[in-house]
Amino acid sequence: MQLMSAEEEIRRRIAEKGPITFGEFMEVALYWPGGGYYTSSGNADPLRGGGPEQPQGIQVSEERIGASGDYFTSPLAHPAFGALIAVQLYQMWRILDCPGVFTVLEPGAGDGLLCRDVLEYAGEVSRDFRDSLRYFCIDRRSGAGHERGLAGAHRIVADTLPLRGVVGCILSNELLDAFPVRQVVMQPEGLREVYVDQVGGLLIACTDYTFDVGPVSRLTDLDFVPAEGQTLEINVDLASWTFGVSRALERGFVLTVDYGRSARELYSVEERFRGTLTTFYRHVQTDSPLERIGRQDMTSQVDFTSVVRLGKRAGLDFLDITDQRSFLGNLGMGHMLERLRSAVTDRMEFADNRRGMQELVSPDGLGDFKVLAQGKNVGGASLWGFEPSDEARKLVAGLPTPVLTERHLNLRQGLNPGWQG
Ligand SMILES: C[S@@+](CC[C@H](N)C(=O)[O-])C[C@H]1O[C@@H](n2cnc3c(N)ncnc32)[C@H](O)[C@@H]1O
Repeated sequence: MQLMSAEEEIRRRIAEKGPITFGEFMEVALYWPGGGYYTSSGNADPLRGGGPEQPQGIQVSEERIGASGDYFTSPLAHPAFGALIAVQLYQMWRILDCPGVFTVLEPGAGDGLLCRDVLEYAGEVSRDFRDSLRYFCIDRRSGAGHERGLAGAHRIVADTLPLRGVVGCILSNELLDAFPVRQVVMQPEGLREVYVDQVGGLLIACTDYTFDVGPVSRLTDLDFVPAEGQTLEINVDLASWTFGVSRALERGFVLTVDYGRSARELYSVEERFRGTLTTFYRHVQTDSPLERIGRQDMTSQVDFTSVVRLGKRAGLDFLDITDQRSFLGNLGMGHMLERLRSAVTDRMEFADNRRGMQELVSPDGLGDFKVLAQGKNVGGASLWGFEPSDEARKLVAGLPTPVLTERHLNLRQGLNPGWQG
């Protein structure tokens, strides 16, 4: 039986029960099984699939993320990202006394490219460490499966963490920014929630509704009073997600890479009066959530203050936070760049690799992403990615620089990451 499209499902729900919250709208637009943005193939979009606008000569992992998609992420930009994460995981493994099984759960693993890069480079870092790795790619969709065939790699299609007793690390890249958010607007009579309604066949956003107390209690937590007219997003699934992460982890680390800020910066009246919800379509930031339903990405920045606070409540200790530029730098990105010359001789290939690596640490792009480390039953462990360490530098100085493969993206196309400050 053919399911309705995401837009048809949204219209059906509104016709049946009246306006729906923006959060419900976003959940259907992104994840509706019959044609949500992440749960359908980009081929459903008539503008994709090898038409004249399609960049030629590049193989990418899938239609949503990459050259022919709407944005790209760090694993696609260069395998140095996964390689340096492997170095960080290696140190975590040592902190845990080199267990015979070190489990990595990667929720939101998408196509499994990060898994592939981590597992391949882990073998360069230490044979014993590589042998201990059991890596689970967990995603709401099945993805291209780049991890297939690698020893220790597994895939689970799920939207929660179905494992318990994990000793190791729960790692994510750009997961939390893909969670549906509810929107509220401060009006003279108080906070109003944004709903989606249909009038005369058109979908419109309306703010005639008071919100329920649940999502707003988080704002109260942050001692934060929005200014009149200000719009904010609330990542309502964050709390249950965080408790789920803590339940899955017995001993080890949570490493979260995403774009976002502290609550103070995120809810700043001066800088983000209209909130941070944005949409991406074919590498263009479009900022029109009610259009191209199921065919464009919708995302908002992560409130790291809430991630840390909820984590503490759930039993996850805050260890450190930094930006991706410093994180990769501390782990030895400089050495990898220096050694690139010996890894590739072709001039073009060298330039492409350097470009991808620089993109990962670009202060105006992926380098501005945040990396948060939390721990459970690990004491106050200090991690290589968060402060310069001779040990990490020495280790990486003796390791090879990984180079772009056909699974990665060639940034010569001048594409933009899914990010805006
Ligand atoms: C922005 S993409 C990032 C993909 C990949 N991590 C990368 O860096 O290229 C977000 C991914 O998170 C997945 N996702 C969203 N919510 C999830 C959940 N609750 N559990 C597992 N995966 C989820 C989506 O299906 C999507 O593949």
